[in-house]
Amino acid sequence: MALLQVDNLKKSFNNKTVLKGVNLQIDKGDVVAIIGPSGSGKTTFLKSINLLEQPDSGTLKLNDDQLDFSKVTPAEKLKIRRKIAMVFQNYALFKNKTALENITEGLIYGRNVSKDQATQRANKELAAVGLLDKQDFYPAQLSGGQQQRIGIARATALDPEIILFDEPTSALDPELVGTVVDDIDKLARNGQTMIVVTHLISFARRVANKVIFFEDGNVLAFGSPEDILDHPKNERIKQFLSAISKDH
Ligand SMILES: Nc1ncnc2c1ncn2[C@@H]1O[C@H](COP(=O)(O)OP(=O)(O)OP(=O)(O)O)[C@@H](O)[C@H]1O
Ligand SMILES: [Mg+2]
Repeated sequence: MALLQVDNLKKSFNNKTVLKGVNLQIDKGDVVAIIGPSGSGKTTFLKSINLLEQPDSGTLKLNDDQLDFSKVTPAEKLKIRRKIAMVFQNYALFKNKTALENITEGLIYGRNVSKDQATQRANKELAAVGLLDKQDFYPAQLSGGQQQRIGIARATALDPEIILFDEPTSALDPELVGTVVDDIDKLARNGQTMIVVTHLISFARRVANKVIFFEDGNVLAFGSPEDILDHPKNERIKQFLSAISKDH
């Protein structure tokens, strides 16, 4: 049985249809890379899965839970958010909280974990991303790469079934990209199910076992990295890949 199944997801903003009936099925342990042109709906798709945007219609199944996007209840929203974490392009850390507090916050207030236990767990996650020594630093005192790694530690501390990453490296200086890619690769090797929107084809090749090409609110192609990235059949995908390879 699929871990996550999305059927016929549609979303419009002010009469402009941004997602036109997207379907996706992923299994536990899958790492799905989403690539595609700017404005094709990639971010909106991730936000819809996490219910940060309310889709107009479609259904979502996560394990045995099923919901209809057109009538999501507050309880369903909470349940989904507990199981699907999102890591943002611009980190979205609390500016007035330390690295440690950014991680413990969700455990203490969202999960009713004791402060001691939350601190222990946060330290474990900080160590996993190599930033234990930065636990008392505020976001402004950390590099972009370090902030993003705190964002990853904050997500993994909540033991999500799925982590959604929206261009996790695109705001970083080139020399910091590697550390974040390494962290995500480590999660992949530990079996964490993830969906990663990225423009970095080498990163998609390294971490993903499935690739989706998004165009104009639709999934234009879905397949293995070899099929989509190395031997694309579709002219549009060939053109996109050759255009971005010129940037890198
Ligand atoms: N809150 C919003 N209100 C109105 N329009 C929106 C909103 N969010 C996104 N859109 C529109 O939806 C379309 C898809 O946007 P989205 O951010 O999902 O694209 P994307 O594929 O993530 O692009 P990029 O690669 O540039 O991040 C765009 O035309 C965008 O202007
Ligand atoms: Mg986007």
